[in-house]
Amino acid sequence: MEENIQRVLISQEEIQAKVQELAAILTEEYKDKDPVFIGVLKGVVVFFGDFVKYFKAHCQIDFMWISSYQGTESTHMEVVRDISADIKGRHVVILEDIFDTGNSLDFVCKHLQSKEPASLKICTLLDKPERRNPAVTLQADYVGFTIDNVFAVGYGLDYNEHYRNLPYVGVLKPEAYM
Ligand code: IMP
Ligand code: MG
Repeated sequence: MEENIQRVLISQEEIQAKVQELAAILTEEYKDKDPVFIGVLKGVVVFFGDFVKYFKAHCQIDFMWISSYQGTESTHMEVVRDISADIKGRHVVILEDIFDTGNSLDFVCKHLQSKEPASLKICTLLDKPERRNPAVTLQADYVGFTIDNVFAVGYGLDYNEHYRNLPYVGVLKPEAYM
């Protein structure tokens, strides 16, 4: 697997330090709020697992699964698996692996907002602002790393469902795209 990596974009050490830093900031802000952390599957799982271990206060976790398909004019999204927690009146933080075009987060935010949480924020490990759909005005409240417009794998991010288990974020060699 690792022979297919051209270069490391963000090392395991850099990621761990950043996730601890983000978790410390959120611990300070949410320590008396018993927040619900909602992960968007599947890319977030590795970040999510590390993040909640570093979050030092009461919290709950939940997950949702969305799917998207490209229509003739726009991308359509649907909820494949909704959260099970009742978030009405709760402080919610969406955790994401990467904020790319923003279409997924835009959809997820609207979906969760309709459940009337007390507050709703976004924490993304990676942000790729160059790729943002201009129609998406949403911004992330907490960002780990801003990256260039490259296709990244590892630490949850996949290429054809592989490489999610790499402990760092890297870029594939051109010949690894099949
Ligand atoms: P969106 O374009 O912001 O809606 O992001 C949709 C999803 O595309 C993300 O949650 C990731 O699963 C995936 N994605 C976006 N950029 C990358 C990347 O560089 N590598 C792997 N997956 C990506
Ligand atoms: Mg993906």
